[in-house]
Amino acid sequence: MNEWNPSDTMLQKTIKVMLGAFAFGIVALILILLQTSLGTVWNRLLDALFGINGTHMYWFITRSSGILAYLLFWLSTVWGLGVSSKMFDRLVPRAFTYDAHEYLSLLAIGFTLIHMVVLMWDSYAPFSLAQLLVPFISDYRPFWIGIGVIGTYLTVLVTITFYVRKAIGINTFRVIHYLSFIAYLGITAHSWFSGTDTALLSTQLMYAGTFLVVVFMTVFWALTRRSARPLAPAPARAESLPPLSTKTSSTQFHARSRMPPQA
Ligand code: HEM
Repeated sequence: MNEWNPSDTMLQKTIKVMLGAFAFGIVALILILLQTSLGTVWNRLLDALFGINGTHMYWFITRSSGILAYLLFWLSTVWGLGVSSKMFDRLVPRAFTYDAHEYLSLLAIGFTLIHMVVLMWDSYAPFSLAQLLVPFISDYRPFWIGIGVIGTYLTVLVTITFYVRKAIGINTFRVIHYLSFIAYLGITAHSWFSGTDTALLSTQLMYAGTFLVVVFMTVFWALTRRSARPLAPAPARAESLPPLSTKTSSTQFHARSRMPPQA
C-alpha cells in the first residue's frame, strides 16, 4: 500500500536540489531581464493588458507572496505539531508526514524570498539589500519589518536543521526546533502590523483563525508530550520495596513500570 523505499531517497534528494536550482535560476533570469529594456516592454504590456502599472505590479506580488508565505509557514507549523503529537500516524506513513513538513517549510522560504526580493524593484518604496538583511533599518515600519527579518532567519535556521539532524543530534535538533514558535509569533506580528491587507476584515479573520489553530495544536502537543514522559524514579523509600529476585517475574516488572502486562 503506502510503501516507502529508502533506496529512492538519494535520487529524490538530487531531483529536489536540481529543481530548486532550476527554479532559482529562472527567478534570477526573470529579475535580471526585468532590469533591461525588456522590463520596460513587459511593464507596458501589462499596462496594456490589465491596466496595471509596474509600481502596483511589484506591490501586489510582495503582498500576495507574503500572504502565501504566511499560510505555508502556518501550515508547516501546524503540520509539525501534528507530526510531533503523532496525530497523523494512523492515517499516513510517518516518513511522508515528516517529508511533507520539510517541503512546506521550503515552500514557505521560497515565497518569502519572492516577497523580499521584489521589494528591491518596488519604485514606490524600494528596499536596499541591507534593509532586507539587517533588522530595524528599513524606512517603512522599521520595527515590524525588523521582526519579519528576524523571523526569516529563525525559519531558515530551523529548516537547515532538517539536513544536519544526524550531525547535531536529536536534542539540539529539538531545542532549535522550539525556536519555530518564536518565529511563528514574530512572523504573525510582522504580517499583521506591516500589511496593507490587515485593514480588511477577511484578512483579520484569516490571521485570527490560523493563530487559534496554532494555539489549539500547541496545547494538544504539550498534553501529549506530558502524558508520554516516563515517570520519575521514586525517591528514597525504594529500600522498603521487597528485593527483586534475580529472575524478575512479569508481574514484578509491570508493577514497577507504566507498561501494561502483555495479554
Ligand atoms: C527579510 C524579511 C522580510 C521583509 C523585508 C518583509 C517586508 C514586508 C513589507 C515591506 C511588507 C508590507 C507590504 C505592504 O503591504 O505594503 C510586508 C508584509 C507582509 N509580510 Fe513580510 N517581510 C519579510 C519577511 C516575511 C516573512 C518571513 C513572512 C511570512 C512567512 C512575511 C509575510 C508577510 C505578510 C503576510 C505581509 C502582509 C501582506 C499584506 O497584508 O499586504 N514577511 N512584509
